[in-house]
Amino acid sequence: MIFVTGGAGYIGSHTCVELLQAGHEVTVYDNFSNSSPESLRRVERITGRAVRLVEGDIRHPQALTDALRQSGASAVIHFAGLKAVGESVEQPLRYYDNNVLGTLSLLHAMGACHVNKLVFSSSATVYGDPLHLPITEDHPLSATNPYGRTKLMIEDILRDLYRSDPAWHIGILRYFNPIGAHPSGLIGEDPQGIPNNLMPYVSQVAAGQRERLQIWGQDYPTPDGTGVRDFIHVVDLALGHVRTLAHLEKAAGCTAINLGTGQGYSVLELVRAFEKASGQTVPYSFAARRAGDIAASYASPERAIQLLGWRPQHGLDAMCADSWRWQQGNPLGYRPAQG
Ligand code: NAD
Ligand code: UD1
Repeated sequence: MIFVTGGAGYIGSHTCVELLQAGHEVTVYDNFSNSSPESLRRVERITGRAVRLVEGDIRHPQALTDALRQSGASAVIHFAGLKAVGESVEQPLRYYDNNVLGTLSLLHAMGACHVNKLVFSSSATVYGDPLHLPITEDHPLSATNPYGRTKLMIEDILRDLYRSDPAWHIGILRYFNPIGAHPSGLIGEDPQGIPNNLMPYVSQVAAGQRERLQIWGQDYPTPDGTGVRDFIHVVDLALGHVRTLAHLEKAAGCTAINLGTGQGYSVLELVRAFEKASGQTVPYSFAARRAGDIAASYASPERAIQLLGWRPQHGLDAMCADSWRWQQGNPLGYRPAQG
């Protein structure tokens, strides 16, 4: 049994599918602050298997400990957290509370239940403005906003915990830019309000829900002047978690692993690939750089290949086609259509 905090969210729901399809049982613990139970009903539809669900907040130690104990889980995958950079600048205490205190509460609960295998959702944001590309896991770590600092603090806490007790099995997964959706079109990213991230914004423009994309910056030192990112299909990312669990079975440790493809694409390249996959035009205009953005970021996926035997299988065209299928089939995300 795997205990999945935040399992109803974008990456969590895709990971639940892959866990169930790999033969694991799953208990999701989620407070639905940024998701809906509908995603888990869809996970059950895709897999034909049941998901155990406990609605709760990771910051409620007693409820969390009870849920973890009752689940009988042997490992935890910890997705629960807030993730909007701009919001974290405006509401830093909310981010430290939810992400850092929430994780401390989880670690205490794991200790009380004698569960010592953990996969944690970190982010390439912990590399700050990269000093070299591709980014290897030994790149110096830094953060430029409260969201990034929560990830860095949690990573430090996990490293300290392992130093104090080398019986822990901890995988720190540093995601690059997850996009795409399950090929069934039943689950995908469901942003609330105006999307902060590129792909959901592009999809909504293609669907006619928003007028045009603003491309933030055309004067970066990149081949076409727009930002370059390592977009990774969310199903490949999900499979990386299943492989990490198998790796943690083998040996104790606390290891950071990049989950990216190693290939950077620019914002304009993504827009063109999306137009091709969707058959729609994506109107755009250029605007000033977004504060805090970096020119280019892409992973060295070598450690994941070596340690996990994991390689991403989906290219940019599949990422766009799957995002578009999800967008078209679910124009309001998981919210039911009116009338
Ligand atoms: P998401 O918002 O879709 O999922 C997070 C889930 O956690 C949601 O279901 C939410 O309801 C739940 N949650 C939040 N706070 C909680 C709490 N206190 N108690 C219980 N549940 C809580 O986000 P996602 O894109 O699936 O991201 C999952 C994790 O991966 C996050 O930790 C995020 O920071 C990290 N991450 C995401 C990206 C990305 O691009 N999506 C990149 C790097 C890292
Ligand atoms: C952002 C976060 C990062 C987080 C990641 C995943 C910032 C500064 N960084 O990464 O911490 O881990 O999301 O949640 O917010 N773009 C546009 N127009 C848009 C949206 C985006 O041009 O409407 C551009 C951006 O300038 C960037 C690229 O698209 O060059 C990717 O942006 P985004 O999807 O927000 O991801 P990151 O900035 O890489």
